[in-house]
Amino acid sequence: MRTITIANRDGETFEVNSKRPILETLRDQGVDLPFGCKYGGCITCAAKLISGKVDQNRQVALNNRQINDGYIILCVARPLTDITIEIGVESHGNLYRNPFLDPLKPHELKADIATPKEV
Ligand code: FES
Repeated sequence: MRTITIANRDGETFEVNSKRPILETLRDQGVDLPFGCKYGGCITCAAKLISGKVDQNRQVALNNRQINDGYIILCVARPLTDITIEIGVESHGNLYRNPFLDPLKPHELKADIATPKEV
């Protein structure tokens, strides 16, 4: 068993089975969480990990930047330690990159976009 604290729900805590996905165990306890595919591919259930560690090897929705910013995919993530998270859209502030405020650098573009093809 692990303890999950939801920072942006008044620090409410939940005891969960660490072998089950966080989305399932929290929803079973009445936490209303958005979800879509439930296999780690659509990003709908993303939440922000504030502290602790999770195993989310099965997720394919997040890129490296999002992972480094602390995002986790609740439908596949399992807690490896007690964790604190922020949930819901209010946790998604840095999930997506605004291309107008923070345009990609040339080295971040795919080669065929960064270098115009010769005609
Ligand atoms: S519900 Fe689709 S990634 Fe979790």
